[in-house]
Amino acid sequence: MATLPTAMADALLHRLGPAGFPTEPDALENFGRDWTRFTAPAPAGVALPASVEDVKAIIQLARDHGIAIVPSGGRTGLSGGAMAADGELVLSLARMNKILHVDPVNRSLTCEAGAVTAAIQAAASEQGLMYPVDFASSGSSQIGGNIATNAGGIQVIRYGMTRNWVTGLKVVTGTSELLDLNRGLVKNNTGLDLRHLMIGSEGILGIVVEATLALTKPPANPRVMVIGVPSMSAIMAILEHCQAELPVLAFEFFSDLALDKVIAQHGLPQPLQDRYPFYALVEFEEASADTDIQLAQLIERCMAAGWVEDAVLSHNESQRRALWRLREDISETIARWTPYKNDISTTVSNVPLLLERVESLVATHYADLEVVWYGHIGDGNLHLNILKPEDISVSAFQDRCKSVSEQLFTLLEDLGGSISAEHGVGLLKKDFLRFSRSEQEIALMRGIKRQFDPDGILNPGKVFDPM
Ligand code: MLT
Ligand code: ZN
Repeated sequence: MATLPTAMADALLHRLGPAGFPTEPDALENFGRDWTRFTAPAPAGVALPASVEDVKAIIQLARDHGIAIVPSGGRTGLSGGAMAADGELVLSLARMNKILHVDPVNRSLTCEAGAVTAAIQAAASEQGLMYPVDFASSGSSQIGGNIATNAGGIQVIRYGMTRNWVTGLKVVTGTSELLDLNRGLVKNNTGLDLRHLMIGSEGILGIVVEATLALTKPPANPRVMVIGVPSMSAIMAILEHCQAELPVLAFEFFSDLALDKVIAQHGLPQPLQDRYPFYALVEFEEASADTDIQLAQLIERCMAAGWVEDAVLSHNESQRRALWRLREDISETIARWTPYKNDISTTVSNVPLLLERVESLVATHYADLEVVWYGHIGDGNLHLNILKPEDISVSAFQDRCKSVSEQLFTLLEDLGGSISAEHGVGLLKKDFLRFSRSEQEIALMRGIKRQFDPDGILNPGKVFDPM
């Protein structure tokens, strides 16, 4: 395993103490990886700053010694963006996790970058407010990582991505300078908005150290319905009708194989009496006392059209949570099959075409493998997970799936879609970036990277290779 230069290691220990500079192999392995399992972690060290000044000092040391830094949040990423596989220093924000201020007048919350998403949601909720970006990993993901990946999740259809909720950002760049961007302002038209350049930049331009987030009022009475459907195309017809008639908060889908794995793993009852090829999960705000009647009429019409086979509706909070588990537990449940994850998107109107083409690709290339479909279909975002059979090595499996990805991404390019809707590019998607971004765009991105990180020490080799 690579090690840090002695002078640098001594300086880090002196500044951060043993709690901020762990050296045990377990710590290196843990902090050196995210949720991807295609590369082995091999960092040279881990630094856990306790202040912005610490972050600046660590970056300066890395510059002085020519050591690459991998910024690390909750490490729940799925594209290898937080993988340290090449002797880098991991800079984890885990000790900088304070909620600094909740401000009901401005409806905002300011916190350090290592604050866990669920803690932010809880702090907002104590004031009768809500931070609406939510996903299954909210119990361990950190806001700095969410911002660096512009995390999406289950309510994007109503509330948008992380980008929509960041009103202030403090960032330390690759030259060890602190930027204080937008300072919580709602309106600020004063030139290029560097805050938005940082959001989704996957740690290649700077380290997020503090964020101010907008908050909103929680929905009045959220209810969930799980619908059994005969085909994926029926799901899109249901979506159109739900959006026209209900205040939709989430519109998700999953395949019967996904349901099968989740209920088997957790011993859950199946939601409907019979099983169907696919399921839509719709969450909506109960806007009026007529909602039940309105909903019954909507379902009847969808049944008559042949789009809906059966449906179940939550009547209380525990039923709502139980139905959500069927969707939210999929990712964790299938993790033991080391899935090859595709996180693709197109415009909602192009989804039927995308589904048709992807289904035919899957039938041709993955007929012998288990394929689990799910995703945020109301955003045009599909998660296509190919499960690894036991008798094939991880690398052979990855090679096989990567060759199919070329065809999948060509198909997406034709539809003007994206090869990474919400998981980011990281290591796993960088070879395919050209399918979603033009040569000119990538050249401009490289130029921007050089401005913020002239020595190329921040998360090198992620998103694109330097030139
Ligand atoms: C999800 O939608 O469950 C997450 O994006 C995680 C995943 O895709 O597995
Ligand atoms: Zn997702």
